[in-house]
Amino acid sequence: MKILAIYPTHNANVGVFVDGKCEGIYHEEKFSNKKHHLGWPHRALKYISGIYSINEIDYITITSEQQYYYPDDRYIDDVIKEQSTYKGRLLEWAKNIYYRLWYVLGNYKIFGDVFKYYLHNIATPNAKKQMELTLEKEYGIKKEKIKYIEHHLGHALTTHYFYGLGQLKKDILYITMDGLGDDYFSRIYHYHSNEDNFEMIAQSPFSASLGLLYTEITRFLGMKPNEHEYKVMGLAAYVNNSKYYNHIYKMLEKYFWLDKNTLTFKSKVNTFISIQYLLRKILVGERFGTISAAVQKFIEDKVIEYIKTVIDKTGIKNVALSGGVFMNVKLNKKISEMEDIEKVYFQPSSGDDSSVIGCAAKIFRENNIELIPVKTMYLGHSYSNSEVGDFLERYEDKYCIDYFENSNDLYEKITDLLKNFEIVALHRGRGEWGARSLCNRTILGNASDLKTFHEVNDMIKMRDFWMPFAPTILFHWADRYIKNWDMLKNKIYDSSKYMILGFDSTELAQKHLRAAIHQKDKTLRPQILEEKDNPDIFNIFKLYEKKTDMGGMMNTSLNIHGYPLAGTLEQSFNTFINSGLKYIALENYLISKKT
Ligand SMILES: [Fe+2]
Repeated sequence: MKILAIYPTHNANVGVFVDGKCEGIYHEEKFSNKKHHLGWPHRALKYISGIYSINEIDYITITSEQQYYYPDDRYIDDVIKEQSTYKGRLLEWAKNIYYRLWYVLGNYKIFGDVFKYYLHNIATPNAKKQMELTLEKEYGIKKEKIKYIEHHLGHALTTHYFYGLGQLKKDILYITMDGLGDDYFSRIYHYHSNEDNFEMIAQSPFSASLGLLYTEITRFLGMKPNEHEYKVMGLAAYVNNSKYYNHIYKMLEKYFWLDKNTLTFKSKVNTFISIQYLLRKILVGERFGTISAAVQKFIEDKVIEYIKTVIDKTGIKNVALSGGVFMNVKLNKKISEMEDIEKVYFQPSSGDDSSVIGCAAKIFRENNIELIPVKTMYLGHSYSNSEVGDFLERYEDKYCIDYFENSNDLYEKITDLLKNFEIVALHRGRGEWGARSLCNRTILGNASDLKTFHEVNDMIKMRDFWMPFAPTILFHWADRYIKNWDMLKNKIYDSSKYMILGFDSTELAQKHLRAAIHQKDKTLRPQILEEKDNPDIFNIFKLYEKKTDMGGMMNTSLNIHGYPLAGTLEQSFNTFINSGLKYIALENYLISKKT
């Protein structure tokens, strides 16, 4: 059985699945070079149609039953342009009046009912019709083959499929939490292992969304919503004394709370509609770091209270978490330290784009096809050495290009450079899907001196002054770099490979990885590497270890500030030539700039 799973809108992508196996996940941004491309994945679908015969596809899945609009090929700039036209401004004006009334008159049910009627009965059918017409027109796909999968079940099944949790034969709590999807922002499922069945036991509406609260505070702080939430999290660590933010925290508590009886979040304001009115009322005049610290602590406390309550009620201590809220590595750190939890599984890169995995899982399960655990993020583009050689022919006069027949000779050269504090970019094997580099499209640096932090930032990354870099460390160094590793490792082992979790660092880590930890609270968010995960990259780290007696390096994604993580050969090479990078290894070719 062949399935194409489509996630449209923000960070659009397509997954290809055959007989229970995930064969590839391709993000639209790798083709358009627009970070988190918002749109229908036209280019990714076209690329896949060149590899697989679309006629042989059994099902197309699309994330979410409610489709509020058809994004076509719009980028965020187009959306802003549309909003600035006469018609767009009129529409915004009318919407604002309606939303303002809704807020001022006190969240009356009638406003919500009208809004939902519009979303369910007008917006969704229109959007679905356009998606179906597009698929029929461009690929001859009939409507009957298209399945819309419930948003939060998609998230839950993603973690289930990714880690192969069905094989554990244990009951598991699946908790999803994001901004919103299909009218809700969170759901809890009890997975009954003996019946292989997901029972939904609680759900919280998007009108009381903790994810939207965080996103709207990101917007309030002048950062990009749905993109810069990690910057708010990074900033929060700079205000570590609660006396500075307690008053904001207490105000948030008045508006948002957990009803422990129903396991449902409630709020006095609608987070989808009127939260900005509230934020302007309570946060104007407050310092940016203080606001960040308050919302970060608030989210951590509420989510932990939620998880603890559901564990107490069900007695199930194995927990799997997914949805955009769990991209917050500081929150995940706190969850991993919870004594109530026996094992926890965080979906790597748990935004909506990962839901393609869960959507495919739903169809495979309905057809009794066994799920082969995905367990890898290396599912993007790949190139042979001869393809790289052909690509580089036109650049021979401009750059120094060395080819290494034997990979070990390349590893020697790269690790010599890194030992001597040169920064080296790598493009090797299949590209990563999701938000993070796991060393196949990466910039590596010797992290033992803070100068690496500044060099990488100046030559390419241009990060905000408070944002940290992260390391990749060898598994057998984890106990030397991570505090309480012995206590944590069994609980979080599976999730430790994807930079999805924060940890407290040891003094040795603060020395060896000085440039790749958070500069204020000294936490680190590592990829913990074992040979079985990526033998090629493991060899580089082992050789670096031999030469430096250190077990990790800075690993930051191969991209120029504001552009996507590279996936294609063109993206990797363009990142090299348009930045201050001096070295890049494209498979077994090492390219350097002429001095
Ligand atoms: Fe979601």
